[in-house]
Amino acid sequence: MTRTAPDPLGPAMLGPVALRNRVIKSATFEGSTPNALVSDRLIDFHVAVAEGGVGMTTVAYLAVSPEGRTERDQIYWRPEALPGLRRLTDAVHQAGAKVSAQIGHAGPVANSRSNKLPSIAPSAGPNLLALALDRRATVDDIRRVIRQHGEATRYAIDAGFDAVEVHLGHNYLASSFLSPKLNRRKDEWGGSLENRSRLPRMILETVREAAGDQIAVLAKMNMADGVPGGLWLDESIAFARTVEADGHVDALELTGGSSLMNPMYLFRGDVPLSAMARTQTPVLRLGMKVFGNAVFKKYPYEPMYFLEHARQFRQALSMPLVLLGGITDLDAMKSAMDDGFEYVAMARALLREPDLIRKFEADSRTRSTCIHCNLCAASIFTGTRCPLVLGSAPVPR
Ligand SMILES: Cc1cc2nc3c(=O)[nH]c(=O)nc-3n(C[C@H](O)[C@H](O)[C@H](O)COP(=O)(O)O)c2cc1C
Ligand code: SF4
Repeated sequence: MTRTAPDPLGPAMLGPVALRNRVIKSATFEGSTPNALVSDRLIDFHVAVAEGGVGMTTVAYLAVSPEGRTERDQIYWRPEALPGLRRLTDAVHQAGAKVSAQIGHAGPVANSRSNKLPSIAPSAGPNLLALALDRRATVDDIRRVIRQHGEATRYAIDAGFDAVEVHLGHNYLASSFLSPKLNRRKDEWGGSLENRSRLPRMILETVREAAGDQIAVLAKMNMADGVPGGLWLDESIAFARTVEADGHVDALELTGGSSLMNPMYLFRGDVPLSAMARTQTPVLRLGMKVFGNAVFKKYPYEPMYFLEHARQFRQALSMPLVLLGGITDLDAMKSAMDDGFEYVAMARALLREPDLIRKFEADSRTRSTCIHCNLCAASIFTGTRCPLVLGSAPVPR
């Protein structure tokens, strides 16, 4: 029987959750959580995309432990954070959308200087983000982080979230364990793909145990790290097959790149190096001047830039998949459905126009006004926003 592609703007189930459409606002760290607590700005940010028509928005990023934050003002799961998060989920629900919590541990992407706590990684080594050293995670650390993912999931249920999205990408902790470049361990957590997969698989098992069928579980995973010697499709597809066989995840969102070694692989488009440098300390600013061009490699923007990689996952798997990366119009969403993807995720186009989905509903020929300048990526420490939106201003700190 031939499959009829679903309408991207029609209702759909995601695990136990009923969505009004198949569009997910993908995680964009909002930089709006002073003292690691929810602010009115964070709530307004998500209400705007909810009122703008998405099926589900994603709050990013909620660390499972204090040393797992990328910087000290980022929320980590603890009782004091719950009342604010409950206000946020209530407000999003009132606007008709569902809301997911991106949970994870930043590992080597954590800024230990900002957190005032050592960062952990599969293997010890220099950390250029903090100009410090990553500590090699002990087996106790690993078991604690796995347990903390379960605790985070229980907190997310208490706070009214409809889903959790486990961060397995961008060389955060779970992704760095998967990466043959970053994981040089010789114990049962390193070496073979089976060993490198152990941490992410145990995290997903623990998250599912905590979630039961109360909320949906997604995982955002790297198809490729985008660096020589890093995770590549042969292993990432094999890993995704084991995730499918384990059966703990309702949908996989497919990404790529390394926040440590190749951030532009995530985004594509312009490299706003000077705007990024302005947000850094003088020492890091100097570091960006010296190493900036090597780390921030240029990738020309292309619509649906992860499609060719993601199609290989589609062929290898039968579980629901979320296509991400350069999706900015209704034609792209429909072609993703034709290709067998169940959902699409969008980041920058919704930073530029939070009401873009309503505009598609009103006129299917609507085109996004996002120009892939990536200035929004430089805004994450002063309140994530599209600076091209009139009236957008940095958040005073
Ligand atoms: C400002 C900004 C912040 C981001 N923060 C996160 C994050 O916290 N977690 C994450 O998984 N991805 C993050 N991303 C990546 C996006 O979720 C998405 O993968 C990427 O932008 C590609 O999608 P797009 O082409 O629709 O923008 C961020 C992207 C931007 C632009
Ligand atoms: S700053 Fe605005 S226009 Fe530029 S990439 Fe970000 S959302 Fe798009």
